[in-house]
Amino acid sequence: MYTNDQTKKLQAASSEWLAKKDKAPSEKNIEELRNILRFHEYRYYVLNDNLITDPEYDSLYKALELFENEHPDLITPNSPTQRVGAALIKDFPKRQHLVPMLSLENSYDAEDLYDWDRKARELSGLDTIEYCAEPKFDGASISLVYEDDMLTSGTTRGDGEVGDDITPNIKQIRSVPLSASFSSYGIQQVELRGEVLLNKHNFQKYNDALAEEGLPPLANPRNAAAGSLRIKDTREVARRNLEAFLYHVSYHTNTADDPQATKEPVTHSGMLEMLWNLGFRSPQKEMKILKGIDAVIAFIQAFETRRDDLPYEIDGMVIKVNDLALQDRLGMTSHHPRWAIAYKFKARQATSKLLDVEYQVGRTGAVTPVAKIQPVQVGGVTVGSISVHNEDYIKEKDLRKGDTILIERSGDVIPQIVRSLPELRTGKEEVIVFPKTCPVCNDELVKPEGEAVWRCVNINCKAQVVERIIHFVSKDAMDIRSFGEANVRKFYDLGLITDIPSIYALTADALKQLEGFGAKSIENLLQAIEASKAQPLHRLIYALGIRYVGETTGKTLAQAVSGIFDLAGYTDEQLKAIDDVGVKVARSIFEFFQNEDNTKMLHKLQAAGISMERSKNVRFAEGSLNGQTFLFTGTLNKLKRSDAEEKVEQNGGKILSGVSSKLNYLIVGEDAGSKLEKARKIPAIKILTEDEFLEMINT
Ligand code: IVH
Repeated sequence: MYTNDQTKKLQAASSEWLAKKDKAPSEKNIEELRNILRFHEYRYYVLNDNLITDPEYDSLYKALELFENEHPDLITPNSPTQRVGAALIKDFPKRQHLVPMLSLENSYDAEDLYDWDRKARELSGLDTIEYCAEPKFDGASISLVYEDDMLTSGTTRGDGEVGDDITPNIKQIRSVPLSASFSSYGIQQVELRGEVLLNKHNFQKYNDALAEEGLPPLANPRNAAAGSLRIKDTREVARRNLEAFLYHVSYHTNTADDPQATKEPVTHSGMLEMLWNLGFRSPQKEMKILKGIDAVIAFIQAFETRRDDLPYEIDGMVIKVNDLALQDRLGMTSHHPRWAIAYKFKARQATSKLLDVEYQVGRTGAVTPVAKIQPVQVGGVTVGSISVHNEDYIKEKDLRKGDTILIERSGDVIPQIVRSLPELRTGKEEVIVFPKTCPVCNDELVKPEGEAVWRCVNINCKAQVVERIIHFVSKDAMDIRSFGEANVRKFYDLGLITDIPSIYALTADALKQLEGFGAKSIENLLQAIEASKAQPLHRLIYALGIRYVGETTGKTLAQAVSGIFDLAGYTDEQLKAIDDVGVKVARSIFEFFQNEDNTKMLHKLQAAGISMERSKNVRFAEGSLNGQTFLFTGTLNKLKRSDAEEKVEQNGGKILSGVSSKLNYLIVGEDAGSKLEKARKIPAIKILTEDEFLEMINT
């Protein structure tokens, strides 16, 4: 798309614009600024390899926006500012595809592919056919039309003939160019096919946000992408960070004035290359041209082993006859083209039977229904129970005991029920009735107005007490090593612990009577308990298990006070004045400290010697690593992974969960694997050894 020379020029021009912050765009240089912004969008969204930072991009974007506000007559429809159109869409108009969107025939093993290849060779009379194999993206399919180089429409698949016109939403996908020079290939009007998807990282982020709202997660990124395309607020669509791969040219016309001189590709791979050169994200890097079906089979089987390393979901491969003239000769059946076939990977879906529902009481009293299902293999793991989240979720999915259900496990996501299959009901299925009382302590359950979750509000409910202790000792809270969930339950059942403070009264004598607890394990456990007394304040705050107070809020609160008892004296208003503490969080903290049982517990902890003050040297979000992002990979020799991450955060840095262009530093320990490989491909990421990292933070 951009030659080395162009890249250098555009990068130099960006620096110039950024250096002269007051450089006002003029009619003359406005197009330069637009080109610079388009170039950076391409680097970021198509190549995943940005050359400037987000704030730098934003400042260039704002300069353009400002100028266009003053000179609306000079706005062009393909200006980078024009992605954000009218924010609210009333209804999606229907639009007919230029060519019907057919689906593909499926294959599941080498045998199916040999059959398909044999038929194609018989029909064509060729000995060997050249194929192009590429990933089968697991998203929502779309078609785009460009006319005279401008994007004119984006449409969902719909029934294959007619779909919903979602053009304003498509414009929110930054890897989709608003204009592209098809005319340089002699093309006047073109219809493209592709797939919109949400990558694994953004999908996880989206589900995390739902969970924070107390809402059930979506089963897979495909549903998330399809749903996102139908949102009627374009700003919300933009926030989802959708991506698009374009993999097929379904229709095109030539520029009228020069029909002879067309430079359009004659192969499918040539089309992918053309799309890539025009700035689209086509599977140009992922596809392979292969002679004969044996080579295809070897390639796709090897590709399947890399499936989990890809940043997005694929559910198979698509094999296409490469020569477009041969595609035409092979033609279509009424359902699918004869020149292409989908090869489906091992399913990550399975059906099973919903046998029963059990109810678990969490540490905040939330009652979560868990479906017990007939154990079934899904994508390599056996699943025997699945969370069904809350009462509304069960109603919405119309789940009944005895139902056949479809389960999906997408990548690293916890398995979810996609739906029940009511068509297989026998009439013996039972409607699931949510209990009215706590399954553990029998107290009446309550569901506050506007919330989805039923709760047991008996603070002394055994289930809650145990869950609170489990949370308190857990790795990210007080980190009492070797305690663990199983030991908490065991000790509680034996009466060795009754609440959080009783942890600190455990003695070697009491533990000695336990089977399987030798002198060494007792010593380790008591040492870990002792060490936890000095944990920093933010860990203690988080460990208390106050509703809505996660690790981040724990840190914010620790920063705002000098000791835990300060919080007890805060009013609702004072709490709300703390950065990032909203109404809901403030109320929850306030209520926690209003409860006498809680303040008694804190005094007991204080008496046991737990540090209740913020130590002077623990500071967050300020320091030498301010704003920088880090990721650790491989085995570290000198630091524990969690300590290293804490050091980054103490110095104002941030930990990322994966390698992306947003990452500044990858710290590499022994036996680093795919993360290191990936980071090497992104020049902006600095790769450091553990020693270099330690030097950097001066310890
Ligand atoms: S080609 C006429 N290529 O899979 C041929 N389809 O099961 C057009 N899909 O409806 C389709 N990745 O939504 C093609 N690389 C790829 C694809 C792909 C995903 C989807 C597409 C299609 C469905 C068929």
